[in-house]
This record gives sequence, C-alpha cells and structure tokens, in this order.
Amino acid sequence: MFCTPSNPTGTVFPENTLRELGKIVLEHNLTVITDEAYEYFTFDDAQHFSMASIPELRKNVITNYTFTKTYAMTGWRISYIHADEEMITQINENIE
Ligand SMILES: Cc1ncc(COP(=O)(O)O)c(C=O)c1O
Repeated sequence: MFCTPSNPTGTVFPENTLRELGKIVLEHNLTVITDEAYEYFTFDDAQHFSMASIPELRKNVITNYTFTKTYAMTGWRISYIHADEEMITQINENIE
C-alpha cells in the first residue's frame, strides 16, 4: 500500500518507478492498494501517474480516491475506489 501524491510530504512517485514496481507485482501476483486522494495536487513538474492505468495490472490494483480533496467537499465523507470488477464484488461482499 502506498500514497501518491503523498500527504504530508507531497512526494509523487514517478511513472517509471511505478512501472518497475508493477513488474514485481505481476511477477509475484501481488495486490497493491493505492491512495491517490491528491491526484490533482502536484507541484513543480511532478506528474501524477496511476498504476491502475497499466492494463496488465488491471486485476492487481485497488485505487482509492476521495471527493474531499478533488472537489473541496470536506465533510461530505464521500470516497470511491477503482478496481477490477471481480475485486469490487469481493469487496462489496465483505462490507458490513
Ligand atoms: C492521503 C489521504 N488519503 C485519504 C484521505 C481521506 O480523505 P477524506 O477526508 O475523504 O476521509 C486523506 C485525508 O486527509 C488523505 O490525506
């Protein structure tokens, strides 16, 4: 699990780093959970890149987002995840 862009440091993991990590994820069939709440909050020349955009990792990545940051909807407590349909089904089955 990791957060990019990071809170509180603002660190943005570069695309090439995430692609390299993706190779390890595929090799070992791992599941990665990412927190990308600050996807639109990058500074200087940093570019946000989501591992979920790598087609081969479709079944390996669960990405978390929140309206709080992107749409300044603090207090609404609305967030959402992006994942493969099979993964979403499993997550839904385990929500109480
Ligand atoms: C990196 C990160 N992810 C997720 C959240 C959760 O956001 P929310 O306010 O929608 O619960 C926060 C909140 O500060 C955050 O900093």
